[in-house]
Amino acid sequence: MTNEGIEGTERFVSTDKGRGLRAVRHFSVGELVFACPAYSYVLTVNERGAYCEQCFTRREDLFKCGKCKQAYYCNVDCQRGDWSMHKMECLAMCAYGENWCPSETVRLVARIILKQKVTTEQTPSERLLLLKDFESHLDKMDSIKDEMNQADIAALHHFYSRYISDIPDDQSLTELFAQVNCNGFTIEDEELSHLGSAIFPDVALMNHSCNPNVIVTYKGTVAEVRAVQELNPGDEILNSYIDLLYPTEDRKERLLDSYFFTCLCSECFTKSKDKEKIKIRKANIPPEPEKIQSMICYAKNLIEEFRRAKHYKNILLPPAFN
Ligand SMILES: C[S@@+](CC[C@H](N)C(=O)[O-])C[C@H]1O[C@@H](n2cnc3c(N)ncnc32)[C@H](O)[C@@H]1O
Ligand SMILES: [Zn+2]
Ligand SMILES: [Zn+2]
Ligand SMILES: [Zn+2]
Repeated sequence: MTNEGIEGTERFVSTDKGRGLRAVRHFSVGELVFACPAYSYVLTVNERGAYCEQCFTRREDLFKCGKCKQAYYCNVDCQRGDWSMHKMECLAMCAYGENWCPSETVRLVARIILKQKVTTEQTPSERLLLLKDFESHLDKMDSIKDEMNQADIAALHHFYSRYISDIPDDQSLTELFAQVNCNGFTIEDEELSHLGSAIFPDVALMNHSCNPNVIVTYKGTVAEVRAVQELNPGDEILNSYIDLLYPTEDRKERLLDSYFFTCLCSECFTKSKDKEKIKIRKANIPPEPEKIQSMICYAKNLIEEFRRAKHYKNILLPPAFN
């Protein structure tokens, strides 16, 4: 590990949450705490054709890979940049045709294995935490999780063994899948649509709170961590791992099932917003079909307007204003 770290923060070992990240200077609300490029990432299958596989830019004039005709790029530079990763999928997709259906986690792990082969040094995504040191909670896996893990390993072998030489042994793969499940991120666009999955090691160092003081957003394949509460020297930097619109009992269940811990944050203790959250959930009686149709129409128009405005902003304003 280099001594560079991330300016304004430091890694520490907490009493009850394992390793974590804390502030060593003041950060104001809205301030960028740090940015982290993805170590590995994969565009979700449903967004193929809408986003560039390499830089996750959304544009209408992407061109497709001439071989598999499934992956789309901004230009030759993006295609070249992605080739070392896309190559194995390109060949596999051509060979399997319509039967090519690995899960997004399996696709991401295949990319991590390739990346690990060509990376001998600490990457810019691992200034404070190396992927190989990720928590896996292997000792806490029950038989259901174990079966899911084995199914992922079988799918990795099935779809990729001809295209990746020296796939790690099953014990290493079991650990790698468990690490990805506990430390992986999903990338969303501004409209919160799912774009893909990724590994951001330094972002994964942050522990969870249901009353977080930072949020993570994405610029292409770079994660940005911004303060949503004032941070003072010594404060632990805490992110939320889950949708906070769920009431306490649901959040607890999700955190225990996916991340193997019981949250003891102030919100889980006071449950102060539960009543409102339960009311919102109860109010979720399905609306009439006509109402749904008009809501979809309204949302589509709004999204279209938003994209148009963004497009013009990008064209009309010099980069410094974007
Ligand atoms: C993404 S990792 C965060 C870094 C982790 N503490 C480490 O040492 O690698 C997620 C894991 O951190 C721990 N963790 C995160 N938030 C926690 C919390 N609020 N309370 C207890 N443990 C927590 C859990 O073990 C969880 O599975
Ligand atoms: Zn691109
Ligand atoms: Zn291709
Ligand atoms: Zn909590």
